[in-house]
Amino acid sequence: MAILLCITQWDPVPWLERMRRLAPERDIRAWPDVGDPADITYAAVWKQPAGVLKDLPNLKGIVSLGAGVDHVFADPALPDVPIARVIDADLTSRMSEWVVMHALIHLRRQRLYDALQRERLWRDIRPAPAAGELRVGIMGMGVLGQDAAAKLRTIGFSVAGWSRTRRTVEGLETYGGDALDEFLARTDLLVALMPLTPDTRGILDLSLFRRLARDGVLGAPILMNAGRGGLQVEADILAALDEGTLGAATLDVFETEPLPQESPLWLHPKVTITPHNSAISDEDAVGRFVLSQIERHERGLPFETEVDRRARY
Ligand SMILES: NC(=O)c1ccc[n+]([C@@H]2O[C@H](COP(=O)([O-])OP(=O)(O)OC[C@H]3O[C@@H](n4cnc5c(N)ncnc54)[C@H](OP(=O)(O)O)[C@@H]3O)[C@@H](O)[C@H]2O)c1
Repeated sequence: MAILLCITQWDPVPWLERMRRLAPERDIRAWPDVGDPADITYAAVWKQPAGVLKDLPNLKGIVSLGAGVDHVFADPALPDVPIARVIDADLTSRMSEWVVMHALIHLRRQRLYDALQRERLWRDIRPAPAAGELRVGIMGMGVLGQDAAAKLRTIGFSVAGWSRTRRTVEGLETYGGDALDEFLARTDLLVALMPLTPDTRGILDLSLFRRLARDGVLGAPILMNAGRGGLQVEADILAALDEGTLGAATLDVFETEPLPQESPLWLHPKVTITPHNSAISDEDAVGRFVLSQIERHERGLPFETEVDRRARY
C-alpha cells in the first residue's frame, strides 16, 4: 500500500518531502522511482506523463493536486478508477481576491491612473461609475464562481452567473447552459472560472465576445479568465481588443504556459497578465486534503470531491 506522487512541470522533491512529513507512517514514492508497481494503491498527480498510471495494477484512486482535472484527463490511457480534485477554502479565497482586485482595477480605471502617474499628470477620469453600475457575469458557478460572486456582491457589483445547469443562489441572477446569449447580453465584465473540458475548450472566442453587452458603463466589455488557458482563443482576444469588441483583458491562464516570449499579449496596452497564480495554494493544506481523501477511500467511503468522468470535471 503506497502512494505515488506523479508530478511533472513542478518540482516533485518538495512535494515528496511535504507528503512524507505530513504522513510519516506511509510509504510515499515519487515518479519515476515507482519501485514495484503492484505496491501503489493511490496516485496524487499533477500532469502525470501519459500511460504511467495504467501500469499500476492495484491502483484504487487518483487525486489531482489541483482544483482542475483537465491535466488528469489529458492521459489517453487513464485507468478506470475514481478521480478526486482539491477543494480548499484558502485556494478559493485567494481566487476571489484576484477576481475582486481585478474587477476593481477595471471599475476604477487603475491602469489609466498608472499611466497618468508616469506622466506626472493630475487628472480625474470621468465618468466614474459605481460598482452597482457594472454588470459582472461569471461563467462557471461552482466552488470558485460562487465564492467570487458573493464577494463581488459585497462590494456592490451587479453579478450574474452562468453554469451548465442553472444554479439557484439567493440574490443572484443565474442562467443555465441554454441561456448563454441572454447572460452575455447583460454582461459588461466577463469572468471565466470554468473547467477545461471538451465542451468548454475555445469557448472564449470572437463570436462570444461580440455577444457581450455593448452599452456598458466602461464603454466596451472586459474579459477576465482565471479558469484555464484552453478556454480562450488568444488570436480572437487580440482581434477583439484591436477592433474594440473588448475594452481590456485580464488573463491568469494561457493556451501555452509559461506564456511564450513572442506572444503579443505581453506588451498589449489593454492586457493585464498574471502568471497562473490567481489562486496560489497553501501546499501543506493541499497535501493534508489529498491524504484525507485517500484515508476516506481506504475506509470504503467515496472521495468527497470525486469528479464526473463523463463531464470531465
Ligand atoms: N488559475 C488558477 O490558479 C486556478 C485555480 C483553481 C482552479 N482553476 C480552474 O477553475 C476551474 C473551476 O473550479 P471550481 O472549483 O469552481 O469547479 P467546479 O466547482 O467544478 O465548478 C465548475 C463550474 O463550471 C460549470 N461548467 C462546467 N462545464 C460547463 C459548460 N460546458 N457550460 C457551462 N458551465 C459549465 C459547472 O456547471 P454546473 O454547476 O452545472 O456543474 C460549474 O458551475 C477549475 O476546473 C480549474 O480549471 C484555476
